[in-house]
Amino acid sequence: MTRPTKVELTEVGPRDGLQAEPNFVETQTKIQLINKLIDAGVPRIEFSSFVSPRAVPQLTDVVEVFEGIDRTRSTVLAALVPNAKGAVRAADAGIDEIIVFLSASESHNKKNVNRSVEESLVGFEEVARIATESNIPVQGVIATAFGCPFEGDVPIEQLGYIAQRYSKLGFKGIGLGDTTGMATPPIVQNVVKYLQDTLPELPIGLHFHNTRGLGLVNVMAGLDEGIDQFDASFGGIGGCPFAPKATGNICTEDLVYMLHEMNIDTNIDLQALMDIAIQVEAIVGHDLPGQVMKAGPRLDLHSMTSVATAQG
Ligand code: COA
Ligand code: ZN
Repeated sequence: MTRPTKVELTEVGPRDGLQAEPNFVETQTKIQLINKLIDAGVPRIEFSSFVSPRAVPQLTDVVEVFEGIDRTRSTVLAALVPNAKGAVRAADAGIDEIIVFLSASESHNKKNVNRSVEESLVGFEEVARIATESNIPVQGVIATAFGCPFEGDVPIEQLGYIAQRYSKLGFKGIGLGDTTGMATPPIVQNVVKYLQDTLPELPIGLHFHNTRGLGLVNVMAGLDEGIDQFDASFGGIGGCPFAPKATGNICTEDLVYMLHEMNIDTNIDLQALMDIAIQVEAIVGHDLPGQVMKAGPRLDLHSMTSVATAQG
């Protein structure tokens, strides 16, 4: 498989990142950040979730946020939807894309959405009907696809089964979520190859968390299998509130920096992303794990007078 020359990046910071913050980020601040991402050229943004306000209080302003976003550009505005109620709300708001999600493992699905995998899948039939009526494409995410914090390895056939069901529901593609950073390059290679063989027509997107420092290496493994859709979050913020020890996503600026260095196009302005990440750090009030936002790109050189000379 040859590596792609272009990648479609989805910024998930406003959803996956801000949902995990202890403090509610003001609606206007969220809107400003999202509009800056659009200006930076990000092609797809997971801007929030139509979930229960009790489950994720940080994202209760999903409708107000959507209404404040600059819609004059072609950026795809996608949001998470767990059930038919969320789909109705998303369709009423008029968003561009619905992302349904379940976890490959029963235990994490129960923690995250309070139902079995089969119950989620049955519920998605209604979501698909509502989305089709409103002409909204649906992406089907499988969380804990590379391992579950409660059950360990996930049988690959379970991923194949869920992907088949998604395909039958007419979903435009699948996203594989590494919710707690349990993926490693061989697992990524194995899972992606298996799904490409089983469902060759179904595009795959990869969603990695950097919990064990393997986020970008896992991206490399995905690129080597021809994957050209990746999620990342500004400054590497994030984490699932319903999974132990969940930490941030792979960092958008670090990913864009790496892809550009590999001559893989993203259409995104790296400097603008770095500025956004620095702003996000100030908003949430704690250090973010992003690295390029601190060090700058490799050819951002420094004057020799900026450091002391070693005296020996
Ligand atoms: N949007 C808004 N409210 C919703 C909703 C939605 N999509 N789905 C359910 N609700 C409300 C119901 O109206 C009900 O409200 P009420 O008690 O005031 O009448 C309440 O939530 C409980 O509904 P129920 O269907 O019994 O849901 P539940 O308690 O079993 O919770 C989910 C199921 C899926 C709604 C909830 O677990 C959830 O929103 N999880 C999202 C988790 C998440 O976003 N995780 C991060 C992503 S990885
Ligand atoms: Zn995530």
